[in-house]
Parts: sequence; structure tokens; C-alpha cells
Amino acid sequence: MTPPAGTGPFPTKGSGPSPTVFPETAPGPTALYPGSFDPPTNGHLDLIERGARLFGRLIVAVLRNAEKAPLFTTGERVEMLREATRSIPHVEVAEFEGLLVDFARQCGAGAVLRGIRAISDYEYEMQMALMNRRLDPKVETVFLMPAEAYSYVSSRLIKEVYRLGGSIQGLVPPLVETRLRAKWRP
Ligand code: PNS
Repeated sequence: MTPPAGTGPFPTKGSGPSPTVFPETAPGPTALYPGSFDPPTNGHLDLIERGARLFGRLIVAVLRNAEKAPLFTTGERVEMLREATRSIPHVEVAEFEGLLVDFARQCGAGAVLRGIRAISDYEYEMQMALMNRRLDPKVETVFLMPAEAYSYVSSRLIKEVYRLGGSIQGLVPPLVETRLRAKWRP
């Protein structure tokens, strides 16, 4: 449903001087939520839920990165994200390689969603957002904060804690815990 002009989160015709006008027939703009997701955490899912409430179509974009040595293959990460987001409306999961802005263009996405957990994330995120803006000024980066409960959760820490025998219960979806167990304690 299209909100009355000026009342929704995005500018519509007649709501002000902003040149950004999204098609009135679309349920809302398309956004990409890109990342490595190695593995997906509850912090990622929290952000996906928030993004899905704001955008008409949210594409979770998993980076296929030959330079990094991920624990999970791209296929495994896509599979885990599809399973974990099955009940969230208008969320899709895709993989990409190359420039994010090129993939955004391919998908018709006008926004890139990223999470900022703490001020320490800000510098890296700002660099990426400004580089992406330089590469394609039509793609806007939108930052959201995950719930405080996940503000310290990262994929890197999840792997480290789990590998060393610590509990990660409640910090990742159960299926991710099962997949981690299969990797390290078959
Ligand atoms: O979860 P991550 O590892 O912080 O995600 C980083 C990601 C995937 C968003 C970033 O590395 C990316 O967009 N890579 C694609 C290559 C690209 O477009 N680089 C230039 C823009 S910074």
C-alpha cells in the first residue's frame, strides 16, 4: 500500500523538494543487503527484519569472494540465509561477485542496506558508502542499527567462540549452529 504523500519513510511526489521519486505503482523501493555472512548471525537477521519493514523488496546479497577463505561455501551461506529468512515477507537471497553497485543496477536496487553496531563500524562503513556513491550516485546507502542484544555479535567472533568450545546459543539461528557443529565436530 502506498502511504499518503509525505507520511511514509520515502519522499513521494509533492512531499518536498527531493528529486528522488520512487515509482508510485511499486510497493516500495528495492534494497540490497550485502555481506559475507560467514556465517549468518541473529544480528544479520535482526537487520533483515528491519529492512524488510522499510523496503518493498530486500535482496540479501552474499559476496562470492575468491580472495577470502570463508568457512562456508557461497552455496551454504545462501542456503542458510534462505532457510532463516523463509518466513520474512519480500526477502530474497542471491549471490554476487564484482562491484556491488553493478549488482544493484542489475537488480534495480536504489538502496544498499548496512548495519552499524558501534562507532568502530562507522569508519569502514563510511568509506564503503562514499566509494559506492562515487561509483554510482544513484545508489543510496542506508544504515540501520541492530538490536542492542546483538551489538557485539560478528561472524568472526561466532566462529572463534564456537571453535574454542564456547556457547553461541541465541546468537545465531539454530540451523547455523547445526552447520557449525557439522564443520568442526562431526
Ligand atoms: O560482511 P562484509 O564482509 O563486511 O561485507 C562487505 C561487502 C560484501 C559489503 C563489500 O566487501 C562489498 O560490497 N564487496 C563488493 C566489491 C565492491 O563493490 N567493492 C567496492 C565498494 S567498497
